[in-house]
Amino acid sequence: MRTPHRLVVLPLLLALAALPACSGGVHGTPGAAGLRDPYFPKLGNGGYDVTHYALALAYDPDTRRLTGRADITAKALQDLSAFNLDLKGLTVDRVTVDGKRAVGSRAGHELTVRPHDELPKGGTFRTTVRYSGEPVTITDPDGSEEGWLRTADGALGLGEPTGSMAWFPGNNHPSDKATYDITVTVPKGVQAVSNGELKSERKSADGRRTTYAWHVPQPMASYLATVAVGRFETHRSTTGSGLPVYTAVDPYEAEASEKVLARLPEVITWETKRFGTYPFSSTGAIVDRDGDAGYALETQNRPVFPGAPDLGTLVHELAHQWYGDSVTPKSWRDMWLNEGFATYAEWLWDEDHDGDTAQQTFDALYERPAGADIWSFPPAKPSSAAHVSDTPVYQRGAMVLHKIRETVGDTAFFALLKSWPAAHKYGNADTDDFTAYVEKKNPGKAEALADVWDVWLYGDGKPDHA
Ligand code: TRP
Ligand code: ZN
Repeated sequence: MRTPHRLVVLPLLLALAALPACSGGVHGTPGAAGLRDPYFPKLGNGGYDVTHYALALAYDPDTRRLTGRADITAKALQDLSAFNLDLKGLTVDRVTVDGKRAVGSRAGHELTVRPHDELPKGGTFRTTVRYSGEPVTITDPDGSEEGWLRTADGALGLGEPTGSMAWFPGNNHPSDKATYDITVTVPKGVQAVSNGELKSERKSADGRRTTYAWHVPQPMASYLATVAVGRFETHRSTTGSGLPVYTAVDPYEAEASEKVLARLPEVITWETKRFGTYPFSSTGAIVDRDGDAGYALETQNRPVFPGAPDLGTLVHELAHQWYGDSVTPKSWRDMWLNEGFATYAEWLWDEDHDGDTAQQTFDALYERPAGADIWSFPPAKPSSAAHVSDTPVYQRGAMVLHKIRETVGDTAFFALLKSWPAAHKYGNADTDDFTAYVEKKNPGKAEALADVWDVWLYGDGKPDHA
């Protein structure tokens, strides 16, 4: 009875070979579809760690169509049978993993990828997603808009806290940082500006398109990635210490921006003196038109401003390069570590430039009545996702830092401003990491510091004494 036997076994073997479930002896499971962020639980994905994104985008402001190819290099953190990427809107045209066609399925902002072969824990794999369509604008729980914003002459991609998934697929959570190559092709008449350094600018043979290749060599969180398409006046210079500066300014904002941007090297030099070595390989700014976005954002290397910034906002966004961009929050609960420091940078700038002292700024804020917004929740515990960018995170966050200064003294405090971002350079940290660090650096002050945490960082309502 040989024939029937063969007839049964051969199709079975073929079926097993085609089945991706346990090839190579690996019995993987799917990566989690979210990282359980306390404020944005569905953001990010488990089971892998991205090391590099190579994005090749083409955008035409006339058709509003984006065509993209994302090559995502990642390391498997478990044996993976499937994993998710975050992508909102757009159409996925094709997905491959390590060159082999993979199955992609979509639900909400989750793109589930089932690779042909299982991915063993510890291995590196490369996912390629080809996608296209008109990218969406995302409205945050607080009503602000981000993701893909159309502007008068192009578009602006912005990502805090969730918007990067409107223009590229990825592990959209601040805890998974990676290096980037962002290449953007745009029609003649507009330019494309992004993070990092401009490696090349090439015209197509027919002269109708230009491709801009930007390289980000230091790790970056997805919310800090940006692309600006439009007409810009670009300017290159260097700071006193030789750091490259690249600014791109919408011509409508050029005159209003000229004086403040001329001070950018001076701001970087002052911040370097206060916060330590500048963490990245270039700096600059992108100034689009007033109203193109509802807020400024500390996009890595090159913050975005809707309209000419004032000096305080420039100081704030550039300070984020140390606090937020280099040392990045582990979750959106730790926002005050970004905004408290960037706000305190503004106070210190004033103090160092014949303005109010930080003490005066603190005292004026403490005058606010018990019912004022600033006391509505403690900085380390925003009341909900709709409030992660409210006054307590910014102003009361800066007040926490001022209380630390008062407790440990100026010498230890200014040392801390430098050593904290240095200790977590290119990494992530949360509030517990920070409080433990401050305590470790100031062993004699544990009790007084515990009081600062209880009252100013975690305490509800207005503290009963300043
Ligand atoms: N981080 C920006 C700043 O203060 C402000 C901002 C824009 C923001 N969008 C946000 C903060 C979303 C929190 C969430 O420089
Ligand atoms: Zn800020």
